[in-house]
Amino acid sequence: MVKLSQRVQGISESVTLKLNAKAQALSEEGKQVYNLTAGQLPFRPIQDFSNLIAKELDFLKSYQYSPVPGFPELRKKLVEHIEKTRSISFEKAGIEVDAVVGNGGKHVLANLFSALVDPDDEVVLMAPYWISYTEMTKLAGGVTKVVEANVFDAFVPSLEKLEQQMTSKTKIVVLNSPNNPSGIHYSKEWMESFAQLMKKYPEVSIISDEIYFHLNYFDPAPSYFYQDHPELLERTFIVDGISKSLAATGLRVGYVIGPKDVMKGVSRLQGQTASGANSLMQRALMSFDFDKTQEYLEPIKIHLRDNSRILREKFREGQLNSIWYQTQSAFYYLVDFSGTPVMEKFRKNASDDKDYAADICELLLEEYGVAIVPGSDFGAPNTARLSLVPPKEQFSEAISRLVDFLTAK
Ligand SMILES: Cc1ncc(COP(=O)(O)O)c(C=O)c1O
Repeated sequence: MVKLSQRVQGISESVTLKLNAKAQALSEEGKQVYNLTAGQLPFRPIQDFSNLIAKELDFLKSYQYSPVPGFPELRKKLVEHIEKTRSISFEKAGIEVDAVVGNGGKHVLANLFSALVDPDDEVVLMAPYWISYTEMTKLAGGVTKVVEANVFDAFVPSLEKLEQQMTSKTKIVVLNSPNNPSGIHYSKEWMESFAQLMKKYPEVSIISDEIYFHLNYFDPAPSYFYQDHPELLERTFIVDGISKSLAATGLRVGYVIGPKDVMKGVSRLQGQTASGANSLMQRALMSFDFDKTQEYLEPIKIHLRDNSRILREKFREGQLNSIWYQTQSAFYYLVDFSGTPVMEKFRKNASDDKDYAADICELLLEEYGVAIVPGSDFGAPNTARLSLVPPKEQFSEAISRLVDFLTAK
């Protein structure tokens, strides 16, 4: 009998997969299912990019190994792209950086965790957080420390609570703004206080997962702690990619920008585990005009804004104002079940604080045909993530059903 390594045995399997399988089975039985689980935009990427991919098919280099960290021309372009869109200058900050291009943001994040975390090192996460940070930390032998947030604060983590999690073992603080699953980004003031806090901990690195950077549909646009404190870039790793902003999840390109010496280590790791990322995609990106991203995203942002308004109206009609908060970026909303009548069907007594999110989502799917993702994996018990991307009519009907479900006595 083949035994899996302890490390892999320790990785949890996603509840989302189970739920998606059930949604599919119901759909195959002919039931109407409103699937709000999507973690991707259901649109084709910008035509210019598709054209560039087609053009690069004519070149032998597109089929051959790329340098492990990515083609130098692309890396330079990505560094400039980040400087331009985040209004920073690495040169002015006196920091030598480089990019490492990997097979998606997830891949570069996994590389980063492996490259930075030693056994027993602590990684501070702010709940609700993206599922994979916990598993990547575990795989690297590290320990996660979690800062809780709740719907009353619109899921903005308290910096006091963050400081309470900092210890002499803290190696990394992970920031994900715009955030999956809450669909908000942290304010400029919050970022300023975060910068001040990080200055007190000079040994701590910051991973800033900015994969949803371009997807804000309500002002102000996301801002970052390093913009007014560029010296923090010395220990900051900015992660971005094309999955979300170019609606290209399947093409698998992501990248990290960070101090050059650390990037060498990350590249060494990638060289022994994956080699360079997809050459064809890298070459197409090399000629792509990133300035076109905003224009491409404009109608998508209008769509997300409209759906967020539908959500607000339906929650208001259902008198669910206490669990409503304004989303502004990425394409998610986190429903908090704990203040709604549906919770009473599950709670055994008033002091029962068990997490029923998976059971609640299962019932919602079975009885109302709406699939959303339990928040348990996101470090947010008794919540669920829904996606704002479906077409308006479908989305509206799904939210009406969700409201009926949440408010049924
Ligand atoms: C917060 C966050 N970071 C990173 C990723 C990774 O994206 P990809 O590997 O598709 O680039 C995702 C994908 O869902 C995400 O939500």
